[in-house]
Amino acid sequence: MTLALGVLISGRGSNLMAILDAIHEGRLDATVKIIISNKESARGLELAKDRGIQTYFLDPKPFAHERNPREAYDLAVGKVLQQHEVDCVVLAGYMRIVTPALIRMFPSKILNIHPSLLPAFPGLDAQRQALAWGAKVSGCSVHFVTEGVDEGPIICQKAVAINEGDTVETLSARILEQEHQLYPQALQFMAQGRLQVEGRTVRVLA
Ligand code: GRF
Repeated sequence: MTLALGVLISGRGSNLMAILDAIHEGRLDATVKIIISNKESARGLELAKDRGIQTYFLDPKPFAHERNPREAYDLAVGKVLQQHEVDCVVLAGYMRIVTPALIRMFPSKILNIHPSLLPAFPGLDAQRQALAWGAKVSGCSVHFVTEGVDEGPIICQKAVAINEGDTVETLSARILEQEHQLYPQALQFMAQGRLQVEGRTVRVLA
């Protein structure tokens, strides 16, 4: 099945580009229907436009007066995704915490990539956290999105060694290289209908 993706971004968009490359090269049976950003200045929006993909900047500010601004915003995001008949939502450097409003609209259909080996170092600045902790190994994880931040069932992970003298920049760059391999691979498992969730465990069917 060709997976219809909606990608949510906030910035650089390198994971988005890796996904588009994988589609182009036939490694991922998917199509990107819509890219939504909460930041008008997101570089990923420009890159996506250059590739002829439909983009949408959804400004959070007008939702500030709502009783529950975050849920109201997510309902609007969900509506755009539904209008584009998306069947899987990809968080790729999306800097907002997703609320249950959106999770309910796409149950077990929202994926995220995080630059650490979860459950270690969830939240912001995962690479900095790993260095500060003195960890010898970090990496990246693709997981389903649930209400807890970076807590959903893990689909796949890739380890990256931390070297003496690593800085946030050098470690982030090496992890990012692996992210660009891992995310398209996880999405391809999804496209092939090979992901089976049992509690916290995700099995990748043969
Ligand atoms: C990546 O490190 C990703 O793991 C994290 O945010 C960063 C996004 O980078 N969630 P990009 O926008 O995909 O280049």
